[in-house]
Amino acid sequence: MIPRTCHDRVIAPSLLAADFSRVREETTRAIHAGADWLHLDVMDGHFVDNISFGPAMVQAVHETNDIFLDVHLMISRPDHYLERFIAAGSDLITVHVEADHDVAETLRRIRAAGLQAGLAINPATPFEAAEPYLGEIDLLLCMTVVPGFGGQAFMPEVLPKIEAAAAARSARGLAYHIEVDGGIDATTAALCGRAGANVLVAGSSTFRAPDMAAAVRAIREA
Ligand code: DX5
Ligand code: ZN
Repeated sequence: MIPRTCHDRVIAPSLLAADFSRVREETTRAIHAGADWLHLDVMDGHFVDNISFGPAMVQAVHETNDIFLDVHLMISRPDHYLERFIAAGSDLITVHVEADHDVAETLRRIRAAGLQAGLAINPATPFEAAEPYLGEIDLLLCMTVVPGFGGQAFMPEVLPKIEAAAAARSARGLAYHIEVDGGIDATTAALCGRAGANVLVAGSSTFRAPDMAAAVRAIREA
């Protein structure tokens, strides 16, 4: 996978909205529909009020194709589980600033393993919480819903934070991607794109669309 710059729009369907009984076929369907990355939501039932899947799922997807795997760890101790997600074939691992770990050290370990490192901030977390780490990340994920479940409504109050992230990026000469996740469809993708986001995660609006390719295209062109 060719590394992308912060100028390219990246569409990352979220596997959480796929049919788990047919994960390989669903992954292939996303690739054929034009997905750039696949977003994998790992939930531990503790950091968020839901349990999804772990490294075995990441590995199963990794073994079937070459698509870039964007692994979003919504878990309390990302530092403890990190090696397992690295070994499973993740290309980029995103950890939350709110989780219980040494954030700088976890980011350093992700990059030391040759992966890209992402940092996520919840809707209620101010941009300032991410600021100390901006020089150490490849991606900043601004959650546009409270994490835990697919199919929630987009929170427009996050838009100023995306603008702040884009402004800080140019002011400091950095190149991290700005990703949004939660309630993204063609309409909300346009708002986020205008604010400065370039990686658009979309679960329900892609996997559950009648025509997934058309849905991916609509988000890309929004
Ligand atoms: C939310 C997850 C999202 C979720 C998005 O906790 O991090 O990635 O799958 O789902 P939609 O696009 O349905 O809001
Ligand atoms: Zn996610």
